[in-house]
Amino acid sequence: MDIKIQRTTKPKTKPDQKALGFGKYLTDHMFLMDYNPEQGWHDFRIVPYRPIPMEPDAVALHYAQETFEGLKAYRYPDGSVHLFRPDMNAKRLINSNKRLCMPEVPVDLFVEACKAIVRVDEDWVPSEPGTSLYIRPFMFTSEGQIALHNCTRFTFAIILSPVGAYFAEGINPVKILVEDEYVRAVKGGTGFAKCGGNYAGAMIGQEKAEKLGYSQVLWLDGAERKYVEEAGGMNFVYSINGEFWTAPTEGTVLPGITRDSILHILRDWGVTVREERMDIDTLMAAGHDGSLKEAFACGTAAVISPVGALNYKGDEVTINNFTIGELTQKLYDYLTGIQWGKEADKYGWTVAID
Ligand code: PLP
Ligand code: COI
Repeated sequence: MDIKIQRTTKPKTKPDQKALGFGKYLTDHMFLMDYNPEQGWHDFRIVPYRPIPMEPDAVALHYAQETFEGLKAYRYPDGSVHLFRPDMNAKRLINSNKRLCMPEVPVDLFVEACKAIVRVDEDWVPSEPGTSLYIRPFMFTSEGQIALHNCTRFTFAIILSPVGAYFAEGINPVKILVEDEYVRAVKGGTGFAKCGGNYAGAMIGQEKAEKLGYSQVLWLDGAERKYVEEAGGMNFVYSINGEFWTAPTEGTVLPGITRDSILHILRDWGVTVREERMDIDTLMAAGHDGSLKEAFACGTAAVISPVGALNYKGDEVTINNFTIGELTQKLYDYLTGIQWGKEADKYGWTVAID
């Protein structure tokens, strides 16, 4: 891939690594490439971070033909920079794009583009404990058309943001509100795809949760509003009587890469993992009788965030005395150890940027 690189003449001042928060700062450059049926993907370029011009009738703005991904680059103790399972993000983007009638970005092209932009902004990869460089690839059609037909021209972009913890609570437990009115996804819909429309439709649940003092919403299935699915921007995992449970990814739940990595590790540790449906009443009962021992939300942004309380229709259960569970802590240490290059990567999940 021949990438043209135009470097900024006005590099930004880098933020304090101890106060990054999540997604507040953007680096100096971004990656762009375009698609049309005649040329396929073309015009690979890295340019200074700047606005993307769009026609007011661009289909992405009206009909949300847009998909995105999220992964991170980590600074190892020796100073080198590695990505975590970027091929998985590439494959998920292919699935999202198929659902949204958008062209595929081949896996190699996706991974090379991520590596290339991180190389250009390598100085932005932070090294403070708990920090990383969040990589946000996204794709949309900027083609203008008010009639409802599929488009033929698309843009793929990658922007970067140095980040710390997603939640203000850091690794301390968060409270979650179970949404009983609105739904996020139904079978046959777009729940498994990482597309902007899913998040727009879910914003109302997130807003409601935050107004009531909860960090995240927990979605129930869209058909019966009964089975536990996932949190707003992360998967939900919990342990009952020593067995770890999470919702199956059968079309309505985003197949998280953190979720997949965690299930892999747990199975390797000999822990029973159940990717099965669980109804909310049974989960709340397990919370009340104390058999619900650990719970956490997991995702690239959230990493592993312990859940200390669940509220469903005004009934609130506290989990593990609002402290991080033993295995949750062990998982956090091991997974982030691999990501930050402090544990041997026996799974071959990390990819150096050069
Ligand atoms: N579920 C939703 C709705 C998400 O937005 C995310 C974040 O990407 C996840 C789950 C977790 O996925 P991953 O671990 O790949 O980041
Ligand atoms: C991610 O974890 O990469 C996401 O896209 C979640 C988002 C809510 C920040």
